[in-house]
Amino acid sequence: MKPVVLRDKKAARAYVTAQQKAGKTIALVPTMGALHEGHASLMRQARPKADIVIVSVFVNPTQFGPNEDFAKYPRTFQDDLLVCEREKVDAVFAPQPKDMYCEDRSAWVNEESLSRFLCGARRVGHFKGVCTVVSKLFNLFQPQVACFGKKDAQQLLILERMIRDLDFPIKVIECPLIREKSGLALSSRNKYLSPEEKKQALVLSQSLKAAKEAVSSGKSANQVRNLITKIITSAPLAKIDYVSVVDRGTLEEVKSFKPGQKILIALAVYFGTTRLIDNVWLTTPKK
Ligand code: PAJ
Repeated sequence: MKPVVLRDKKAARAYVTAQQKAGKTIALVPTMGALHEGHASLMRQARPKADIVIVSVFVNPTQFGPNEDFAKYPRTFQDDLLVCEREKVDAVFAPQPKDMYCEDRSAWVNEESLSRFLCGARRVGHFKGVCTVVSKLFNLFQPQVACFGKKDAQQLLILERMIRDLDFPIKVIECPLIREKSGLALSSRNKYLSPEEKKQALVLSQSLKAAKEAVSSGKSANQVRNLITKIITSAPLAKIDYVSVVDRGTLEEVKSFKPGQKILIALAVYFGTTRLIDNVWLTTPKK
């Protein structure tokens, strides 16, 4: 069955009220569209968790900086609908920015600790835009469950913090990062890459694989950072934005590993003007 398309907040509210009256539970999968297998995997995780699965497709202007790719971000709504239909999604919410935001908006949701690091340090205001739009979606759809991908590790951890600190009664499903066979992490932004850039971008997943082995064989945090940097800079088109080995609870850089420490190795690398992110979630050896 084709999903119901909800074009604005009014339609969304009417749909949610009807579902709630019928006693249905809701799982929400927030996206910015240009849907790929990574997004589809979130929908598949959502499906058994609630009666109704709702996907939002909204390129959120407030999370893009002035020099970022908001205008050219891929918009492929008809294809997105086919993906949602294939994954048995019940409804797709696809509002326009002017419906989502009042022109003189002045209230925001901001996470102030984890947002200081990694992408938050480079994309100032980005996570404020993400937290605000996701809060608005939570208020609109009142889901019991929401699915987010580990691909955007910092985003996931910040949203979990926001949910905890603001008492949203929502269970988060942390969904695994989906890669192409080549190892490249799926991303809507991969569409921007030239064939040569795409080939060279394989150093990202290769460096993380090597890093994972280095951590389990007892290398230090700095050795791991250096190893990753060496592998990435072997690609002439790669320009490193950051390579970070951080504690997953605080997102602060790890100086020396503790046994059994939950860490995140995260990187952001430019190929031309395209900024790619990738990461791996690890636990250091117990002793
Ligand atoms: P978007 O980049 O479209 O991603 C939507 C969701 O899909 C996020 O939870 C993201 O982590 C997940 N995702 C993307 N690529 C993935 C992959 N290769 N494997 C697994 N999951 C993947 O993230 C956003 O949109 C926005 O910031 C949003 C949360 C919708 C707020 O505007």
